Parts: sequence; C-alpha cells; structure tokens
Amino acid sequence: MGEWASVARVDEVTASVPLVVDLDDAAVVLVLVDDEIIAIEDICTHDGGDISEGCIVDGAIECPRHGARFCLRTGKVLSPPAYEPLHVFPVRIEDGKVSVRDDRWD
Ligand code: FES
Repeated sequence: MGEWASVARVDEVTASVPLVVDLDDAAVVLVLVDDEIIAIEDICTHDGGDISEGCIVDGAIECPRHGARFCLRTGKVLSPPAYEPLHVFPVRIEDGKVSVRDDRWD
C-alpha cells in the first residue's frame, strides 16, 4: 500500500492554475474544484500529453495535445480522443499541508 506523502501547502493550490507535484516519481496535478483539492495524474491516457498544461473549465480539464476532456473529480473521459480515465489519487489535508497517496497498486 502506498504511503501518504506531503506534496504541497494548501495555499499553493488554486482553481485556475494546475500545480504539478512529484509523488514517488509520478507527476500529479493538484487543483481546487469547488473548494476541494483534487489530485489527478498528469499523463493523458490518449497519448501521454501533459494534462497540467490544459485549460480548466467547469470542473473539467482539456488535454492540450488533442483536446480530450476529463472530469477532475472522477478522472472520467468527457470527450474523445481519450477513452481511458485518468487516475484520481486520495488526498488528505493536515496542518495546512496537502498529502497524497499513490494507491494505483494497492
Ligand atoms: S495526448 Fe491527450 S488528447 Fe491526445
């Protein structure tokens, strides 16, 4: 089971600019959605685009390479050309710090 890792301060995470952090060598995007911090993988499931460079609109993020859209809360694909969801990591807030756990291989 992956360990919790402190990756950022709460006040560094915004709703408009994705914050990229390193989690055990995996790039993870932190973003605020309706006052909740979401941690989602930074690699598009279509062809490896950097999700963090995409635009955020209405709780979704659009991959800058070919325009696939993903729900930030669930990681689900909202529009092609991607068909596989992004992984959403568990988030814990403590003492003003954001911790994320890599549960992909639990
Ligand atoms: S790499 Fe993201 S839509 Fe193609």
